[in-house]
Amino acid sequence: MTAAPERACQASGGVRPTGVERRLGAEELIVTKTDLQGRITYANDTFLRISALVEEETLGRPHNIIRHPQMPRGLYSCLWSTIAAGEEMFAYVKNLATDGAHYWVLAHVTPSITPDGKPCGYHSNRRSPSRSALPVVEQLYARMLRAERGLPANEAARAGVQVLEEALAEAGTTYSGWIWSLEEEGAS
Ligand SMILES: Cc1cc2nc3c(=O)[nH]c(=O)nc-3n(C[C@H](O)[C@H](O)[C@H](O)COP(=O)(O)O)c2cc1C
Repeated sequence: MTAAPERACQASGGVRPTGVERRLGAEELIVTKTDLQGRITYANDTFLRISALVEEETLGRPHNIIRHPQMPRGLYSCLWSTIAAGEEMFAYVKNLATDGAHYWVLAHVTPSITPDGKPCGYHSNRRSPSRSALPVVEQLYARMLRAERGLPANEAARAGVQVLEEALAEAGTTYSGWIWSLEEEGAS
């Protein structure tokens, strides 16, 4: 169990980003599990520490409690349509801790299935992304955000997805393919 940080109660919504970046160690993994609606059912200590959350205030809450305002809606729209269709998805995600710090992760989100084959929730494992990938990712997400600005949620998500799909088509790749090429570049 993680010690209660002073600001843990101010979790969602009104948290103002401070611009302070918190980095995940190379060996560290952030793990959460959710129900089918995205409510958190499990969070490991690394998630709680880096997000400045405590377990009692985290379990049962929606995963958007750590949503960063610079993350495009289109990205989450892709995530949900992919995992709801029973497929896995990798994604670069910037999260906002409850104390205003942010952290970047490379997430792997998978559907969880009961022994009789029914979907029962989702599981996300996250590790530190390649540092050199981040400016490239930020640039694409900023383009998506610009396309989304001022639109109602559903339209914004569609506009963001469109920018994402166009950028990937132009580069002749998929979102996963793009991620792995950025990770390989960073490793070389
Ligand atoms: C297993 C799982 C893990 C998730 N992890 C995150 C996360 O780390 N950060 C985040 O902002 N959203 C995460 N989400 C997506 C949220 O459920 C939500 O769609 C997103 O924060 C956008 O919220 P909004 O639609 O209220 O703007 C995750 C969803 C699932 C199912």
